[in-house]
Amino acid sequence: MEETQRLLREFERIFGSAADARVYFAPGRVNLIGEHTDYNGGHVFPCALTIGTYAAAAVRSDRKLRMYSANFPEEGVIEGSLDDLVYRREDGWTNYPKGVIKEAAERGYPLRQGLDILYYGNIPNGSGLSSSASIEVLTGEILRDFGGYGFDGITNALIGQAAENRFIGVNCGIMDQFAIAMGKKNHAIFLDTATLSYEYAPVAMEGIRIVIMNTNHKRGLGESKYNERRAECEQALAELQTVVDVPSLGALTASDFAKYEGAIASPVRRRRARHAVTENERTIRAVTALKEGNLAEFGRLMNESHKSLRDDYEVTGIELDTLVTAAWNVPGVIGARMTGAGFGGCAVCLVKEGSVDTLIREVGGKYEETIGYPAAFYVVEIGGGPGRLR
Ligand code: GLA
Repeated sequence: MEETQRLLREFERIFGSAADARVYFAPGRVNLIGEHTDYNGGHVFPCALTIGTYAAAAVRSDRKLRMYSANFPEEGVIEGSLDDLVYRREDGWTNYPKGVIKEAAERGYPLRQGLDILYYGNIPNGSGLSSSASIEVLTGEILRDFGGYGFDGITNALIGQAAENRFIGVNCGIMDQFAIAMGKKNHAIFLDTATLSYEYAPVAMEGIRIVIMNTNHKRGLGESKYNERRAECEQALAELQTVVDVPSLGALTASDFAKYEGAIASPVRRRRARHAVTENERTIRAVTALKEGNLAEFGRLMNESHKSLRDDYEVTGIELDTLVTAAWNVPGVIGARMTGAGFGGCAVCLVKEGSVDTLIREVGGKYEETIGYPAAFYVVEIGGGPGRLR
């Protein structure tokens, strides 16, 4: 494979010899519906992409970690050690792999020797297509292979999430790491985040394409209001629990919620919780609709999801709203919504094959006219999970 050869050449240039290097890949992800439900015990419906992150890695005879990213060549080789796995701002992107190595060690999967690793990703950085979760799951895969460990994909996802929560400091849910570690070609994953039970649903839809629309408005999860939203939901749940015995917002139906929402003191928190509850219901209904072949209903629920994220959860912003509203007006569009955390990043659109060019032209024109810089569009394929390529 072309990428493998390119990666090995680059590895040799940076680290001297690629004779013993192994090559790995982990995908990025896009979520079709079920946003901001994963830390509320609700359902999500993401899928892995064929774009993602590659790495070439070779074992060292000492305990050093030497890491290089072909995406950030100006940062050069960043050095660390298995005996010094602590977060350091100046270590930049290498904090992600370091966090994974530390969390894995704490679960009984330590690396005994150091590694030289070269990473290269083709997920647009900061786009909300989970480049960081992709690096995390990829690092888990490398570690599993070099360590000879037999842990499964779900464990790998949990290690990645723990690295994000405890090492990086972003209180994300399990969706991104799970979607990446458990990806299956042409399938989306219907995951119940309360139990981690899941089911694959085929999403290769005849004559329909998935188009990702990138606002090109960069978003760092850490700086965003992500943790604030999560805290608002936790507080709303605690208020609800004074009147009803419920383990999570995802365990409530919308009609139950209507009965009890008066217990939430602030109108803002009430709206946040309402989003979590209604989005979970929409996700369950959307998957049923898809299984019944009712694509129009699936698209309608995607649109409703965006409105709820815009009005109740308030995580869209002018860039995402401009893209999505423009897409809704294009004939041939089945549904469109923001995807991922929000606050910039990407939207996802299901569109009839024959309307892809019109979509890109019309939405692209409207976006540049309103926002002042261009959006980017990717017609994507649903890919499989992570693995070793060589
Ligand atoms: C980010 C987080 C996920 C999830 C989404 C919103 O991608 O990493 O855990 O909460 O936002 O659905």
